[in-house]
Amino acid sequence: MSKRYTITAALPYTNGPIHIGHLAGVYVPADIYSRYLRLTGNDVAFICGSDEHGVPITIKAKKEGVTPQDIVDKYHAIIKKSFEEFGISFDNYSRTSAKIHHDTAQEFFKTLYNKNEFVEEVTEQLYDAEANQFLADRFVIGTCPKCGNEEAYGDQCENCGSSLNATDLINPKSAITGNVPTLKETKHWFLPLNKHEDFLREWILKGHKKDWKPNVYGQVKSWIDDGLRPRAVTRDLDWGIPVPAEGGEGKVLYVWFDAPIGYISSTKEWAAREGKNWEDYWKDENTKLVHFIGKDNIVFHCIIFPSMLKAEGSYILPENVPANEFLNLENNKLSTSKNWAVWLPDYLMDFPNQQDVLRYALTANAPETKDNDFTWKDFQARNNNELVAIFGNFINRVVVLTNKYYNGIVPTPSNYKPIDEETLATVKAYPAVISSSIERYRFREASQELINLARLGNKYLADEEPWKTIKTDEERTKTVMFVALQIASALAVLSEPFLPFTSHKLKAILCHSELDSESNWEDISTKEILLLAEHKIGKGELLFSKIEDSQIEAQLAKLEASKKANEVANKVVEPQKEEITFDDFTKLDIRVGTILEAEKMPKTKKLLVLKVDTGIDTRTIVSGIAESFKPEDVIGKRVTVLVNLAPRKLRGVESQGMILMTEDEAGNLVFVNPDKDEVSNGLTIS
Ligand code: 2FM
Ligand code: ZN
Repeated sequence: MSKRYTITAALPYTNGPIHIGHLAGVYVPADIYSRYLRLTGNDVAFICGSDEHGVPITIKAKKEGVTPQDIVDKYHAIIKKSFEEFGISFDNYSRTSAKIHHDTAQEFFKTLYNKNEFVEEVTEQLYDAEANQFLADRFVIGTCPKCGNEEAYGDQCENCGSSLNATDLINPKSAITGNVPTLKETKHWFLPLNKHEDFLREWILKGHKKDWKPNVYGQVKSWIDDGLRPRAVTRDLDWGIPVPAEGGEGKVLYVWFDAPIGYISSTKEWAAREGKNWEDYWKDENTKLVHFIGKDNIVFHCIIFPSMLKAEGSYILPENVPANEFLNLENNKLSTSKNWAVWLPDYLMDFPNQQDVLRYALTANAPETKDNDFTWKDFQARNNNELVAIFGNFINRVVVLTNKYYNGIVPTPSNYKPIDEETLATVKAYPAVISSSIERYRFREASQELINLARLGNKYLADEEPWKTIKTDEERTKTVMFVALQIASALAVLSEPFLPFTSHKLKAILCHSELDSESNWEDISTKEILLLAEHKIGKGELLFSKIEDSQIEAQLAKLEASKKANEVANKVVEPQKEEITFDDFTKLDIRVGTILEAEKMPKTKKLLVLKVDTGIDTRTIVSGIAESFKPEDVIGKRVTVLVNLAPRKLRGVESQGMILMTEDEAGNLVFVNPDKDEVSNGLTIS
């Protein structure tokens, strides 16, 4: 039965492009779900937009010496374009700087204000006297009182997900000046979450019964059990939506108050354009509201926004909030500031027309129940071993053989063997199998079922061998090709949520649009036949192409470059040592020398035994450089040697001095030596 759905995907902050973490956590699963719902005949509003307020945007603008508006204009355009190119099928992509959003958020605030749903209070807030501003949200960093994370923000700890008041932080520091903040009185409006505790408890329990993801339910329950406190929904900042209340001058709405209302304003924008009634999508009890988010957004979508909606009184509440865990990249946390990410615009440039490969790799390895790791090797393997070797290979064989044997005309089958009947029956069962996974938000499982259907096709062809029977049994070959074409046709339809570009291509190859009615999800199970005999299909076109090692190496090299750049940027210069006298210095006898011989110290990893010409003598020095240099690399090297260091035995060999070394930016050992070869051994360094 057709239902109405409002599907939201977290509004991305407009201070940088989208990366694979955002895609895997939010946008790909939300898109699969929305496409699936549309294909199964539901009425869907898939809503998103840019989150253009909040401190990260102000910080970025300050850093770049531009206005926050410049930042959001730039990234809104980049994000919107890359979503479109990537095939995320939003019905509307708005932005929170839009007038409709400012109006909607202010109206929402006023309704709560007029209903006395806020507590208005003058409290002491953190203040940076040097920067002359209050420190809210990301303007202040300190230790989380719940988990001890030393980099918690003034509104949230990203480590444990707790929502915080800035004054909760232990050892707070201003992110602007680094100063320890003082306290200063200011008036704000607070949403008394404590008042909504009973309602939240009951609501979340209902969700639990409906099979919410355990990670979401568990977190929310434990926050409620800990006890909720009032949260300020206004801020002393100058970038945001002005507070529409007496005494609100110079203050703005907290970004996490206005952002989720962005879902509503984006729906309004869409409804006005499409001639729909937006209230059907937000106020009708029969509409199902589903929020796709990452795990750091759980508190806002499961505690704060539902409390706001409940307090307002006329809205429905989310049916489910299928939050994902985090995706790591090559074993490290994704990080915008460290440029440790695969950026969507870069991917689209480096892998043109290969949107589906990334969608598939991210879905097959989605961080649904635990944090997961994206590696370029896995990406390559998913493409080469699954999309190319299983899906693409099956379709290619079916299309090529149909064209070769029958000029592209679907042949008429004759008597079915049990294997044919079983295969057709299995195909008919697939929509229900995949639906069941999708409806339980198990997109990884669903994507693997899709590949299993292609596997079934390959196995059927391999067992029935039409390329052999064509020489001996024309009627059998026709039946086999007819069955294989039905599998291909089912794949064209069922792949749409996961691989929309591929599905589109495949439908074009199979000329689906020329069928009497284009097949939908249910038709696969209910229609006797999908591709009727005599229907003509088109010529083949490769659906996927192999990803070469060189392409993967290029991506890994990009990441390596980011790592190096970070190491340089983060290199900590050791503090100066305690002062010494000139006499202390003259005690050191440092000479120029040359390494004459070198060999590894047996049974050690780190030590080389060197013979060094110091100009005074040739002596043995044991040096801990074997992990950086092979013996043959150092023979002949000019070095500087501390020659009057008291000898000491290392593994039974007496070392009579020390070679001076330093490190390059990447941490590799480097010899300290005179910059001219003509300097003779034995000369002193002074
Ligand atoms: O975490 C984020 O990127 C936020 N901009 C998500 C906002 S979701 C919503 F409520 F708008
Ligand atoms: Zn914490």
